[in-house]
Amino acid sequence: MDAIAKNHSLSFSLLSEHNTNKGISILRVVNLTKRFDDLTILENFNLTVSPNGFTVLIGPSGCGKSTLFDLLTGVVPKDNGAITWNQHRVDHVGRNAAYMQQKDLLLPWFSLLENAMLPARIGKADRVKSEIKARGLFERLGLAGFENYRPDKVSGGMRQRCALVRTLMFEYDLVLLDEPLSALDAITRYSLQSLLLLLQSDFGKSILMITHDIEEALLLADELIVLTSAPMRIRRRFTLASPKPRRMNDPFLIDLKEHVLELLQEDL
Ligand SMILES: Nc1ncnc2c1ncn2[C@@H]1O[C@H](COP(=O)(O)OP(=O)(O)O)[C@@H](O)[C@H]1O
Ligand SMILES: [Mg+2]
Repeated sequence: MDAIAKNHSLSFSLLSEHNTNKGISILRVVNLTKRFDDLTILENFNLTVSPNGFTVLIGPSGCGKSTLFDLLTGVVPKDNGAITWNQHRVDHVGRNAAYMQQKDLLLPWFSLLENAMLPARIGKADRVKSEIKARGLFERLGLAGFENYRPDKVSGGMRQRCALVRTLMFEYDLVLLDEPLSALDAITRYSLQSLLLLLQSDFGKSILMITHDIEEALLLADELIVLTSAPMRIRRRFTLASPKPRRMNDPFLIDLKEHVLELLQEDL
């Protein structure tokens, strides 16, 4: 065990790839393998996501993180391996997971409210009920009064809030977030991080998030997974037990940040 683990053995535990969480899982990936021509992106990749957990993936650019999400959602077919959803084997979790990316993917010709209600419209949900739900979420996420604005008339932070409302309009237990805040300025990002915590605490979602921002990872994660470059493997898995919201002035987080940075630099 390295020094940081000894120093903070009460605060977090280190688990190797072969000693992943054996408890109950909402999502489990076993020996997932994917190649693009000669390039092996994933080879026997394993991952477990706990119900109502906040799992954060951090790794070098191009290591295969977004590809993992494409495989999970069925956008790209896997070559090999298994995905289980609530202990049942599935081809992908595209129908069980909401997916939010760096680009907000709002439709420019629709208002924010209409954008947020798109999933309900596609799913043929009751329009009145879904509008009540969307308006409630606009209120909750600080967008009240902006329902009829078009996306190009509001800030990047507000567009991402709207995308978050849309994510919550899906009645899905799992939310996949692929660097959702990385295009935003630091202050906006900070306020949206608090909203991401609400997804877990108030809406009961399980979250699997990709980020390249170590501080963001440390502030949000229950499980922090540091990845290697392609073919992507789990380099180290940390369980962070400290309560949220967290602040980066916590000495434990400051030490852990250094440690994660070292792990990531080993791969450069
Ligand atoms: N559809 C595809 N066809 C060919 N190569 C791809 C495709 N999607 C991703 N790749 C390659 O796979 C590697 C991993 O990409 P990606 O998963 O986007 O990385 P990350 O999200 O970790 O930055 C990159 O080298 C990328 O060029
Ligand atoms: Mg990516």
